[in-house]
Amino acid sequence: MHALSSILLVGAYAVQTVLGRVDTVARREAEILKRDVDSLIATETPIAWRNLLCNIGSSGCAASGAASGAVVASPSKSDPDYWYTWTRDSALVLKGIVDSFVNTYDANLQTQIHNYVISQAKLQSVSNPSGSFSNGAGLGEPKFLVNLQQFTGEWGRPQRDGPPLRAIALIGYARWLVDNGYASTAQTVVWPVIKNDLTYTAQYWNNTGFDLWEEVQGSSFFTIASSHRALVEGAALATKLGTSCASCTAVAPQVLCFLQKFWSNSGYVVSNINGGNWRSGKDVNSIITSIHNFDATVGCDVNTFQPCSDKALLNHKAVTDSFRSIYGVNSGIAQGVAVAVGRYSEDTYYNGNPWYLATLAAAEQLYDSLIVWKKAGSITVTSTSLPFFKDLVSSVTAGTYSSSTATYTSIINAVQTYADGYMNIAGSRAHSNGSMPEQFLRSGGAPVGARDLTWSYSAFLTAAARRAGVIPPSWNAASGNTVPGTCSGAAVAGSYTSATVTTFPTSLTANPSYTVTATGTVPSPTGGCASEVLVTFKELATTTFGQTIKIIGSIPALGSWNTANAVALSAAGYTSSNPLWTIGVLLPAGTAVQYKFINVGADGSVKWESDPNRSFTVPSDCSTTSTQSSSWR
Ligand SMILES: *[C@@H]1O[C@H](CO)[C@@H](O)[C@H](O)[C@H]1NC(C)=O
Ligand SMILES: *[C@@H]1O[C@H](CO)[C@@H](O)[C@H](O)[C@H]1NC(C)=O
Ligand SMILES: *[C@@H]1O[C@H](CO)[C@@H](O)[C@H](O)[C@H]1NC(C)=O
Repeated sequence: MHALSSILLVGAYAVQTVLGRVDTVARREAEILKRDVDSLIATETPIAWRNLLCNIGSSGCAASGAASGAVVASPSKSDPDYWYTWTRDSALVLKGIVDSFVNTYDANLQTQIHNYVISQAKLQSVSNPSGSFSNGAGLGEPKFLVNLQQFTGEWGRPQRDGPPLRAIALIGYARWLVDNGYASTAQTVVWPVIKNDLTYTAQYWNNTGFDLWEEVQGSSFFTIASSHRALVEGAALATKLGTSCASCTAVAPQVLCFLQKFWSNSGYVVSNINGGNWRSGKDVNSIITSIHNFDATVGCDVNTFQPCSDKALLNHKAVTDSFRSIYGVNSGIAQGVAVAVGRYSEDTYYNGNPWYLATLAAAEQLYDSLIVWKKAGSITVTSTSLPFFKDLVSSVTAGTYSSSTATYTSIINAVQTYADGYMNIAGSRAHSNGSMPEQFLRSGGAPVGARDLTWSYSAFLTAAARRAGVIPPSWNAASGNTVPGTCSGAAVAGSYTSATVTTFPTSLTANPSYTVTATGTVPSPTGGCASEVLVTFKELATTTFGQTIKIIGSIPALGSWNTANAVALSAAGYTSSNPLWTIGVLLPAGTAVQYKFINVGADGSVKWESDPNRSFTVPSDCSTTSTQSSSWR
C-alpha cells in the first residue's frame, strides 16, 4: 500500500551520521513499515469483516440464494465458478469467527455460528458422490451446492480434512457454551455433529484422499495435523461434557506418529506423501498447518509443529525461499526480506500466482512465534532453526537468549519487521477498495482470480489478531504431544447418527461469572461408565493384492448383514508371515453381536467365511476396550 513512499522517506531520513548509518536506515525503515502496517490493518479490518460476512447465507450481501449458515467460497459464479460451499474453507472461516467470538462476545457473530452449526447438522447426512452417511464415507465430500444439495460433478474426492476442521470449529463454540453455563446446549445441539466428524476422523485418517488444493491424492500434512488436533481436542471436550471419545483417545497418538513422517532430512515438510511425488513437497500447506495448530501452552513444541518450533521455522524459510526466484514481483528482494508467497512453486493454476492467504500465513506464523517468545521471555536458536535466524540477524549463533540480551531484542525486532513485510505485501496488493480476491499476478502483482475470497479475508483477520497479540484458545495440545515409539495405522470404525436437535435456545449471552473459572465437568449421563466399548477385531487372513477383509454382523455398526455397509479392516500391520487385518469398532456396552469376516475382491466380489456365525457380547463391566482375535475360516 505505502511501500514506495516508505522507501522515499527512508532516503530523506538516512543522512544523519556516517557511522551507524546502516542501523539508522534499517531502524527507520522498520518504523515506517510498522506504521504502514498499523494503518493498513486499521483500514482493512472493517472491510475484511464486512466482505467475509457478506459471503455467508442466507442474509450475506453477496450470498443471495445461499442457505442459512452456508459459507460461500467466493461470489464468483464463472471464471472461476466458486459459488459452492466447501467444508474445509467454511470450517476455517468459522474457526476464525469462533476464536474472535470467544475473545469478545458479539451477538451477530453468535447468530452466524448458530446458523453454521444447524446447516452442518443437515449437511452431514446429505448423500453424495463420496458416499452415504450410514458408514460415514459421505462426510469426506469436499463441496456442496450453496443450497446444501449434493454436487455431482467430477471432483477430487474425498477430502478428509473437512470433518476434523469442522469438528475443531464446533468444539471451540461448544467449549464456550460449557464455560458460560450452557453445557446442556453444547451436549444436545453441538456435540452430536462434532461426534460424527470425530468418528469419521478416527475411522478414515489412515486412508488417502485429496489435499487442500484438491490436486494430489495421497496423505496431506495439513489433513493429518488437522485430524490429530480434532481428536485431541475432541477427547478433551468429551471429558468436559461428562462423556468420552474412546476412538479419539485410541487413535490420536498414531496420527501424531504418522505426522512426523512428513519431515524431510533436507530441512522441510514434504506436504504430500503416499502420492504427488513429482513435486518437491515444499508447499504453503505446511505453513497453514502450523498456524492452524498454534497452541501457546506448548511453547515451541516440535511434535505438534508449533509455529516457533525449530522445524517449522526452517520450513518457513524453505517454503518462502522457493518463491523468491520464480515470481517477477519478488525480483530484487533480498534474503531475509518478505516476499509474495503462493501455494507451491510448481503450481500452474492461473499460471501459478502468489495467493493472499499464503502470504498472510507466512506473516501469521511469525506473529505466533513472537507471542510465544515474549511470553517465555527467551528465544532458543537450535542448529536446525539457525539458517532461518541467520537470514534476519546474520551474527546469531545457536543458543538460548533471554529477554535481557541484545540478541533477543535484535531477533524480536527483525522477526516483527519480517512479518510486517508479508502483511504489507498482501495488504498493498488488494484492490483500492480493500477487496481481496484469491491471487495476485506473479508479474506486476495485480489482483486476480475469484473475487472477494472468503478465506482471504479470514486469513487477513487471523494474522492481524496475532499481530495484536491475541492468543487463540488452547486445543489441549499438551495432552496429546507425545509421539509413540512405533507407528501403526490403527483405525476405529464407529456409527453415525444424524443430529436431531437443530435449534438453539434464544438467549445464550456471555456469563461473566463462568468465563474465567468454569472448567468443571457436567454429570455423566451413564453414571461414570462409558456407554461404548472400543472393540478391536484382529483377523489373520492371507489375501492377494486388491482384496480387502471386512467385518459384517448383526448390528448397525457392523453393517446389519448388508455387505455394502461392511466395515473394512486395515492391512497396515500385514506381513506375509503374519497376515494381520485389524479394526477398532465402538460398540454399545452389553450388546450381543453375531458377525463374520468377508473377503472383498477388487471387483467387489464377496467371499464369506464358513459357518457358524461368530458371536460375542460387548462387556458391560465399565471396561473401555476389548479384543477379539481370530483366523480366517
Ligand atoms: C497409515 O499409517 C502408517 C503408520 O504411520 C503409515 O506408514 C502409512 O503411510 C499411513 N497410510 C495412510 C494412507 O495414511
Ligand atoms: C472493489 O473493487 C473491485 C475491483 O474494481 C471490484 O471487483 C469489487 O466489486 C469492489 N468491491 C466492492 C465491495 O465494491
Ligand atoms: C448367521 O446370521 C445370519 C443373519 O442372522 C443368518 O441368516 C444365518 O443363518 C446365520 N448363520 C448360521 C450358521 O447360524
